[in-house]
This record gives sequence, C-alpha cells and structure tokens, in this order.
Amino acid sequence: MLAFTAAVAQQTSAPADAPPAQPGKYVGVASCINSGCHGSTQPLNASRVLQNEYYTWKDRDRHSKAQFVLSNATSARIAKNMRLKTSAEKASLCLDCHATNVPERAVSGHIDIEDGIQCESCHGPASGWRDEHAQAGWTHEQSVARGMIDLRSVPTRGSLCLSCHLGTGAKEVDHELIASGHPILAFELDNYTANMPPHWTPNRDTHGVRAWATGQAIAFRDSLDNLSRHARGDKWPEFSDMSCYNCHHSLRTSQWRQDRGWAGRAGLPSWSPQHWAVLRLIVGRVAPQSRAQLDEQVQQLASRVARMNDRDGVVSAADSARKAMDDLIPRIDRLSWSESDVRAFMNAIADDGDYFLRADVHSAEQAALSLQALNSSLTRRNPKLLRGPTTRAIDDLFTELKQRDDYDPQRFAMKLKSARP
Ligand code: HEC
Ligand code: HEC
Ligand code: HEC
Ligand code: HEC
Repeated sequence: MLAFTAAVAQQTSAPADAPPAQPGKYVGVASCINSGCHGSTQPLNASRVLQNEYYTWKDRDRHSKAQFVLSNATSARIAKNMRLKTSAEKASLCLDCHATNVPERAVSGHIDIEDGIQCESCHGPASGWRDEHAQAGWTHEQSVARGMIDLRSVPTRGSLCLSCHLGTGAKEVDHELIASGHPILAFELDNYTANMPPHWTPNRDTHGVRAWATGQAIAFRDSLDNLSRHARGDKWPEFSDMSCYNCHHSLRTSQWRQDRGWAGRAGLPSWSPQHWAVLRLIVGRVAPQSRAQLDEQVQQLASRVARMNDRDGVVSAADSARKAMDDLIPRIDRLSWSESDVRAFMNAIADDGDYFLRADVHSAEQAALSLQALNSSLTRRNPKLLRGPTTRAIDDLFTELKQRDDYDPQRFAMKLKSARP
C-alpha cells in the first residue's frame, strides 16, 4: 500500500503551501473520529460530508474487519501450506492487504493492526492535511498536494482498489496463495463500490457507469503490468495470469470442450482474457482503430503466454498493449453515457455470445458484472425495472456463475441473449 501512495504522490504537483513538518505519515483512525469530524453517530447536514463515516466503516464495512479473517480456519490452512514462519495474523504477506500495515517510520500517530483497513489505507496518510482539511477555504486539491489520495479521480480510485483486489508488485494473490486456499480475486469497480456501505453522498457522476467503464480500463492496464512483471521476474510461468479451468477440470464434463476444439495444440494453457473481454467493446466505442490493433496484440500475447517459454515476447506484447491504454484511459474516463448509450451497450454485450463461447468463466463474470453495473444505472432512474425481465435475466447469469467448476459456456451464451434491456 505504501507503494501505491508513493506512486500517487509522484503524480501530484508541488504543494501550493509550505509543506507540513511531517508530510505523508500515518496518524491512525483514532484521530479522525472526534464527533465534530467523522465520528458523529448520525449523518449531519452541516456540509457535503456526512460526518458519520467512522461508524459506517466500523459497524458495516468489511474493510474494518479484514484482519479478523486472518485468524479463521481457512487462513490457518493457507499459512500452513505457504509454510509461513508466523501465523497469518502476524504475516506481512497477509497484513499488507488485510490491514494498514506500514513501517514504524511512516507513522506519526498510532496505528493499531486491529483497526484493519482504516481510513488512511484508502485516503492516504493524513499528517499533511488532517488539521488543515477542516479549515474554511481549504480545498481538496490542497489536501491532495499534501498526500491525500485523490479518490475523486476515477482512474486513481480504480487503481487504489485494485492494488488489493487485483494485486501489484508489492503484494499479490498468486497461484501459490490460491493453491494454498486463498479465494480467487474478482473485481469490478462499480459493483464493488456499490457493495461498500457508502460513507459518501451517493450518485456522483464519478460513480455508476463511468466508474464501470474506466474501472475496466484500469484493471486491464494494471493486469498487463502484473503480467509483464511476472514474465521479467523469477515467477514465470505464473498460473494466476491464465485461465484456471484450462488445467483444472473434470474429464467427465469434457464434451463442450471437445465440441469447441482448440486454436493451437490441446493442453496449452491460455492467458485469461477477463480484463479485455468487455473492455474491447468500450475501446471500440472511443477508438475503433485501437480496438483492431489491441485485438491483434491481445491475440499475440495469449499465444506467447501459452508457449510458456517466450518471456521476451510476453513482455513486449504486454508493454505495447499497456502503452496503448495510457492514451485510451483519459478518453474512456471522459465518455458520457446517456440512457440510450447504456441500453445500446447492454445490447452489445448480450449479443456477444460467440465471444463468450471461446472465453473463460472469469470473462463471463466480467460480462455479468458489467451488465449489472449498466442495469443499475437504469434501475436507479426507474425502480420498477428491478422487477423486470432484464434484471431477472442478469440474476440468472449470476446463478449460472455461482459454481465456477460447473461453468458451461454454451448455457451462459444462450442466457446472455435474454439480458437485452
Ligand atoms: C493482494 C492482496 C491480498 C493478499 C496479499 C492477501 N489477501 Fe486475503 N483477500 C484479499 C481480498 C481483496 C479478499 C476479498 C476478496 C473478495 O471478497 O472479493 C481476500 C479474502 C481473504 C479471505 C476470505 C475472507 C472471507 O470473508 O471469506 C481469507 C481467509 C484471506 N483473504 C486470507 C488471507 C491470508 C491468510 C493471506 C496471507 C497468507 C492473504 N489473505 C493475503 C486480498 C489479499
Ligand atoms: C476501502 C476504502 C476506504 C476506506 C477504508 C475509507 N474510505 Fe472514505 N471514501 C472511500 C471512497 C471510494 C470514497 C468516495 C470518493 C469519491 O467518490 O470522491 C470515500 C469518501 C469519503 C468521504 C467524502 C469525501 C468527499 O469529498 O465528499 C469522507 C469524508 C471519507 N471518505 C472519510 C473516511 C473516513 C473518516 C474513513 C475511516 C473511518 C474512511 N473514509 C475510510 C474509500 C474509503
Ligand atoms: C488495503 C487493501 C484494500 C483496499 C485498498 C481496498 N480493499 Fe476492498 N477488501 C480488502 C480485503 C482484504 C477484503 C476482504 C475483507 C473480508 O473478507 O473481511 C475486502 C473486501 C471488500 C468488499 C467486500 C467483498 C465481499 O465479498 O463482500 C468490497 C465490496 C470491497 N472490498 C470494495 C473495495 C473498493 C470499492 C475499494 C476501493 C475504493 C477497496 N475495496 C479497496 C482489501 C482492500
Ligand atoms: C498451467 C496449469 C494451471 C493453471 C493455469 C492453474 N493451475 Fe492451479 N494447479 C495446477 C497444478 C499442476 C496444481 C497442483 C495439483 C495437485 O497437486 O493436485 C495446482 C494446484 C491448485 C490448487 C490446490 C490443489 C487443488 O486442486 O485444489 C488450487 C486450489 C488451484 N490450483 C487453483 C487454481 C486457480 C484458481 C487458478 C486460476 C487463477 C489456477 N489454479 C490456475 C495447475 C494450474
């Protein structure tokens, strides 16, 4: 998490004011919870800020309890299989994502590991802006210049969530951890934001469909960085970049695989296209030329990953796709989404069954999550649609995905057709 904060700090411009004595240090959640600050038991109407953020987080948000799961039986099994030298609740490997685990020298107040993922894990170390940000006339930009993470920027917010929900060079859930018992990570920015109990005023234009579209782009970019790093380092091949069920499936249920056939030799494990599967339609909307180019690069990348011994090829394909994304992300983030755009897009996904016949279950999950995000923007405007056939069809897609082991692409592709709004 420190690595994420450092990267964001580099992007921010020089502070307009004299820097504080100790910028960028963690002060701890205890210093946010005065009842006149963020520790009110009820939402207040004094400003745009609700001021009861602490209790929303403490009582209802999984992040405040994320370190407790490290004491459960699953974690004990993971720790044993990983041959950790300590128990999971003391291992940095786990605490880096399940708590605010920062070195002593980065702390100027008091951090308690028991506080789990506290405010500063997401909002950035507060020593440079804690006192100042409540003063009249102080701006969000001034706080950002002093170390607050700019969560109003959708790309920054997406990357922050993904630092734990996808992983980075500093911390990740790789095949070793998954094989040891850790759940597979799946993430979509809009759904996951909606599933956090909101401690912000909802329905901002930076949430909803825009968060979904930009979130898809950020996830693809960050996954390419991970892939490229794996291929450059000593962790190659890294199986978590690949489609799990290429290697893990029962031979009893092989018929659809035999019907579908293989692009290359049978048994070459393919790169998982999950972060490109829906994004390719979004890129098609902002830049049809780039879509064609990226489709080709992605195909190359997949075949090089499958060979398992072409590291340089993987690095160069991943890096050039990544470069294309740098240009596309701001354009995707600027897209505006009218109600008819949203409907057209849901139709495009629903009509894309042929693609999902060849993609994996993780890609199908992204299709379902995407339809859910788009449909939510319609149901927010017209709650009657919650009882309509489209909402039922999307629920049915999630039922189809509940057991990843039994996933059948033909059934999924067929049901996808009913999700047209
Ligand atoms: C890269 C970040 C990351 C690392 C490293 C990590 N986790 Fe997790 N872990 C997560 C996330 C994110 C979730 C929640 C996934 C979801 O629900 O989508 C999770 C979920 C879990 C769960 C399931 C929780 C539940 O409520 O069912 C357990 C158990 C767990 N982690 C244990 C561990 C242990 C033990 C370690 C260290 C050996 C570890 N994790 C390392 C990010 C991480
Ligand atoms: C898991 C990440 C996470 C944690 C932990 C977290 N927040 Fe937030 N917070 C967010 C996100 C995301 C937003 C919405 C940002 C936006 O849309 O501009 C937000 C918004 C806010 C806002 C509204 C800001 C505004 O500009 O209107 C306040 C105030 C806030 N958080 C305070 C807190 C406090 C206090 C804590 C700890 C008790 C906390 N947050 C913990 C992610 C988090
Ligand atoms: C410091 C790492 C970290 C960051 C940053 C983070 N999360 Fe999480 N998140 C976790 C872990 C770990 C869990 C699992 C907690 C548990 O199971 O108790 C989790 C759980 C969740 C859950 C509950 C998932 C479920 O299965 O019910 C949601 C929703 C979520 N996070 C959304 C977000 C969003 C949105 C952001 C960005 C604004 C974010 N998270 C940022 C680590 C993080
Ligand atoms: C290239 C092939 C390959 C890929 C891709 C792959 N694995 Fe594995 N995985 C293996 C092998 C081989 C083992 C060791 C199996 C054993 O010892 O029985 C293993 C072990 C495991 C185990 C523990 C043993 C078991 O069967 O329960 C789990 C869980 C697991 N993998 C999950 C995953 C997930 C989830 C993914 C995708 C993110 C994945 N694997 C991708 C080859 C692969």
